[in-house]
Amino acid sequence: MTHAIKIENITKYYRPRNVVDHVSFHVNHGEIFGLLGKNGAGKSTIINMITGISFPTSGNVFIYGKSNSSMEAKKRMGVMPDYDTFYSSLTALDHLVYFSKLNKKKISKHQMIKTLERVGLGKDIRKKVKSFSFGMKKKLGIAQAIITNPDLIILDEPTSGLDAESVITIQHLLRELNEEGKTIFMTSHNLDEVEKLCTKVAILNNSRLMSIGTLDQLKKEYQSNIIIHIKHLPIKLADVIDIKEYLQSITKSLHWNEESLNIVIQDDSFIPMIIKTLVHANVDIMRMETIEPSLEDIFLSKGGSKTSDLVNWQEA
Ligand SMILES: Nc1ncnc2c1ncn2[C@@H]1O[C@H](COP(=O)(O)OP(=O)(O)O)[C@@H](O)[C@H]1O
Ligand SMILES: [Mg+2]
Repeated sequence: MTHAIKIENITKYYRPRNVVDHVSFHVNHGEIFGLLGKNGAGKSTIINMITGISFPTSGNVFIYGKSNSSMEAKKRMGVMPDYDTFYSSLTALDHLVYFSKLNKKKISKHQMIKTLERVGLGKDIRKKVKSFSFGMKKKLGIAQAIITNPDLIILDEPTSGLDAESVITIQHLLRELNEEGKTIFMTSHNLDEVEKLCTKVAILNNSRLMSIGTLDQLKKEYQSNIIIHIKHLPIKLADVIDIKEYLQSITKSLHWNEESLNIVIQDDSFIPMIIKTLVHANVDIMRMETIEPSLEDIFLSKGGSKTSDLVNWQEA
């Protein structure tokens, strides 16, 4: 089957650097696909290249097998970009009327009102946008993205900046749309949200694609490293050179000082052997901690999470 979105090696250069750097992935029809990354990672730039608002410096984007600039492609997507283009003197309903005319789609008033109710603007249908809060504009943006009943719904941070109740409304709506057969491509900087909602996730880090897969796959990929932190009574490192060499041979990496030992292993079956070796060498263990980095630890590793030091140390 053709992919809903196929991105081939896209790069976007904004002086002085590539803000999107050789990114490739595809979105299957029927997925809720989350592009996860911190602020400035390049998510909106990718969305804008998918929807044709901006052009890649190099690389291609296809929507259901067609160039994203073709009419066929445009007709199949509904988009909420990270900025709005609303007119302050028009009401929410006026906007949907205007938008469906622009898209040459015949949509009944009833359908428009139902859509506004679905996004949580049921009480604000005839209010002018100039009185709208940030969150209300966001909901109107989502209404605009879904009003033409597109197969592919593309949303740039659909819930960021919304109050908790609205977040739940929107997440519920996205799940419902997906159950109705819609493919959803969304960005988020919130791991929890992506974890709750998305069937597939791509992590963007510093303009590059770091990982892609189902959450289970990503967790397995990252949790294959177990970090062991052992605190012991002071020792002379010169006395344990032999066992240090031995432990190095059975572990992924090792860092030892007079009072503590940090080890990274890939399989917890090594743990008993490590402990036996230390006890045999008369190392008095005071405390032992094992840490399996979560996806969040990795995702936040440059932002200073609890285990980030250990994770970074392990890379060093
Ligand atoms: N029009 C532009 N001109 C120059 N730099 C830009 C432009 N748009 C975005 N950038 C830069 O590209 C990087 C990625 O931005 P963006 O895609 O908006 O990130 P995200 O949506 O992940 O927060 C940022 O460093 C941003 O400053
Ligand atoms: Mg953005």
